[in-house]
Amino acid sequence: RLLIIDFGSQVTQLIARRLRELNVYCEIHPYQNVTDDFLREFAPKAVIFSGGPASVFADGAPMPPKTVFDLGVPILGICYGQQVMMHCLGGKVERGHGTAEFGRAFVTPKGAALHILDGWFADGREQVWMSHGDHVSAIAPGFEVYGTSPNAPFAVTADVARNFYAVQFHPEVHHTPKGAKLYENFVKLAGFKGDWTMGAYREEAISKIREQVGDQKVICGLSGGVDSSVAAVLIHEAIGDQLTCVFVDHGLLRLGEAEQVVTMFRDHYNMTLIHADESDLFLGALEGVSDPEVKRKTIGKLFIDVFQKHANEVGGAKFLAQGTLYPDVIESVSFSGGPSVTIKSHHNVGGLPEKMGLKLVEPLRELFKDEVRALGRELGLPQTFIGRHPFPGPGLAIRCPGEITREKLDILRQADAVYIDQIRKHGLYDEIWQAFAAILPMRTVGVMGDGRTYDYALALRAVTSVDGMTADYYPFTHDFLGETATRIINEVQGVNRVFYDCTSKPPGTIELE
Ligand code: XMP
Repeated sequence: RLLIIDFGSQVTQLIARRLRELNVYCEIHPYQNVTDDFLREFAPKAVIFSGGPASVFADGAPMPPKTVFDLGVPILGICYGQQVMMHCLGGKVERGHGTAEFGRAFVTPKGAALHILDGWFADGREQVWMSHGDHVSAIAPGFEVYGTSPNAPFAVTADVARNFYAVQFHPEVHHTPKGAKLYENFVKLAGFKGDWTMGAYREEAISKIREQVGDQKVICGLSGGVDSSVAAVLIHEAIGDQLTCVFVDHGLLRLGEAEQVVTMFRDHYNMTLIHADESDLFLGALEGVSDPEVKRKTIGKLFIDVFQKHANEVGGAKFLAQGTLYPDVIESVSFSGGPSVTIKSHHNVGGLPEKMGLKLVEPLRELFKDEVRALGRELGLPQTFIGRHPFPGPGLAIRCPGEITREKLDILRQADAVYIDQIRKHGLYDEIWQAFAAILPMRTVGVMGDGRTYDYALALRAVTSVDGMTADYYPFTHDFLGETATRIINEVQGVNRVFYDCTSKPPGTIELE
């Protein structure tokens, strides 16, 4: 396996990503944890030093242990990682007064060909992405220069005899188009065969879970979403009945969703599942509430209380399982404590582990969303489940602007089911990030047969997006929209008008509240 020593770059996760795409198993560890003992035990086959925001001149500047250079394995230093390598091995780094460089640059080859640059320079030069303050001003003994750019005379350096490579740019980002090739060359020379698979990850994760949990009990909050489902199935495979899942049903789920979750996990996977049907409690608390933030806070708080109550019934649990993903870890590190405006308060169970005195089991912490899906397939979860659109924690409450009533929720559930059925029938489901119906807080006049109607209006929403942070509305054909509106009005009693939401994000948000 390959060790990535993290010096705090925002894009360290992308290095892991590029290596996984090459079917190479790697782990990221923060430099503070990488001690001599750690290195001996980890026994990496190759090491990568990530970039980072620090300066090697700062007091307590992040450094790897010196013994890393005696392991006899290939090392690749990136950006700050290059500076660290030069600093440790006798080169010189200069402070970046006025020489900071951010953005696109072009590297041209120098001297002999270097094997980690195989496949580069087809056009005589290669685009790379620079982002650094300080820079190397003299390379360490044994090193040679193999690539330069106008502002970076030491863009690519290497001590080929010792297999040490150091680059000033970031090969892991897409702005370095041949970056993936550089990683491929590096892992090849380190002797990786590229045979690491999700099957292998599954086995490793299972033994890690067993080791962490021992014979203790674990509770898992199951929402029916992909992340918590995959986490639950994986943990169940590792420790069987020591796991109890708590599924809080707030009465704000989609048509048939609660039944599906219960059937799949209880009957198919044979898990111990508490179905906490608390819809009366939630809908009662939401009566008369129409302010979006009050809705979210009411649901969030109740959710924690209810989850805690049911989790306590399990008795003696020591661990809480969560489907935390790698991007969640990064976001919570880099944005913690920063000033930001609350657009919408997000619903999750933050703070609960401390409150309940539980330790966390997070078997998906190293994975990206598409890797979680691959793991889900590996674990036999059905594709309809794995490929599902995201669904917000507060559920249909935020798709029902204004006051929430059971009548409106029923209408909404039916209409949403018809809409999604239409999208699936037209083969569009996987092209869309998220699609749903919302019921508007108004009635309009219509005519059906010979009679006048005075019913609810619906808004249909569908967006494409990469990460939910920005989104474009989906350009359905007019035929599709017309057919869908007709179906909904004919099949769902209580709706006589359908709008399509053509707002992108920003300025709109994906959900209506
Ligand atoms: P917005 O509406 O903020 O949504 O553009 C962005 C993405 O986040 C989802 N979302 C939530 N997910 N708890 C969640 O787990 C929440 O409180 C929540 N609010 C919005 C939304 O469905 C979309 O995918």
